[in-house]
Amino acid sequence: MTDINGLRPDSLVVAAGRPPRVTGAPVNPPVVLSSTYVGVDSPGPDDLLYARYDTESWRGLEDAIGALEGSTQRALVYGSGMAAISAALSLVPRNGTLAIPRHSYNVSLVAARAHAEERDLTVIEVDIAETESVTAALNGADSPTLWLESPTNPMLEIADIPALVEATHARGGTVIADNTFATPLAQQPLALGADVVVHSVTKYLAGHSDVVMGAAVTDNPDLWSRLKTQRDVHGAIPGPWEAWLALRGLRTLALRVQRSQASALELAQRLEAHPAALEVRHPGLPSHPQHDRARAQMSGFGSIITLRPRGGVEAAATVARTVNLWTPATSLGGVESLIERRRRLPAEPATVPDDLLRLSVGIEDVEDLAADLVAALETSQR
Ligand SMILES: Cc1ncc(COP(=O)(O)O)c(C=O)c1O
Repeated sequence: MTDINGLRPDSLVVAAGRPPRVTGAPVNPPVVLSSTYVGVDSPGPDDLLYARYDTESWRGLEDAIGALEGSTQRALVYGSGMAAISAALSLVPRNGTLAIPRHSYNVSLVAARAHAEERDLTVIEVDIAETESVTAALNGADSPTLWLESPTNPMLEIADIPALVEATHARGGTVIADNTFATPLAQQPLALGADVVVHSVTKYLAGHSDVVMGAAVTDNPDLWSRLKTQRDVHGAIPGPWEAWLALRGLRTLALRVQRSQASALELAQRLEAHPAALEVRHPGLPSHPQHDRARAQMSGFGSIITLRPRGGVEAAATVARTVNLWTPATSLGGVESLIERRRRLPAEPATVPDDLLRLSVGIEDVEDLAADLVAALETSQR
């Protein structure tokens, strides 16, 4: 097996999670289509028993995602990002307090409210960029849980992660960070003090819009075993083919993210200068209200832009309808560029502007992306 200690992230995505290097061994982990494993005696901690608990088909991917997030423990993979999020929400103690960004992914908010009802949680929706008001919301709560999304989906607000981690830990609490938007290449929440990281692997990690999967990562052995037991019991596991596809996608994460981040910044700058753009948001733009914070805690600004064209909802819908290279569709993080007016979804919070387009920048030629977008923007102004 390659010694991955000390490797940089761009090497880790390629080298982590390979089978042991012995003569005749495959270079990729196998897809094992078996629900059960031969055994007579009580299984040891690393023995395979039954494929809901563990399978070779996950191990390479789990090792790689765990290493990328800087954990000494392997990740836990799930059948979707939401399955990972629900598992992480189950860590909030009964009657506990959960503070969550008002502009989290809308289904994470729905899940938080459902957990609140089932287990009598107090859920406080916060403006995550407003550090003092988040800290005030945590005041008085015993062992609160702070949910982080930074950048938020879709408003791209940036949380002051180290300050909020300190405030939560000072009250004996736990910090869970959804790192889907940033990817572990641009942001390392565990290194910034978070206790658990969750991912929609569906997005950048798998990267090709062909698989739905989630992951949770923690370096805390107690939290890891609680999550593992939760997954064993609830059974929200991915299939072996999906795990293989996700690891195959992960091998090019560094190249994809490098390209899409560079294109996103370039496009955001051009859009900001376009007269048909009412508002453009991207953490890499100096005009972004938390640009300095993003610079301090991220090593890249992500590949999502929001655009509000002049002309309101009608103009925004026209842009989404008119684009040719960009695909009008929900989701993000794939090789293909996607565009969506978020408020077309009934569950999207009403504080997200009606005319806001979320752009997920892919790996196409930036000139083609710009020309297509500008043409659609100009059509929307007629
Ligand atoms: C930030 C974020 N977290 C979690 C999810 C949910 O992931 P999945 O669709 O894989 O269940 C999404 C999906 O859009 C997301 O954008």
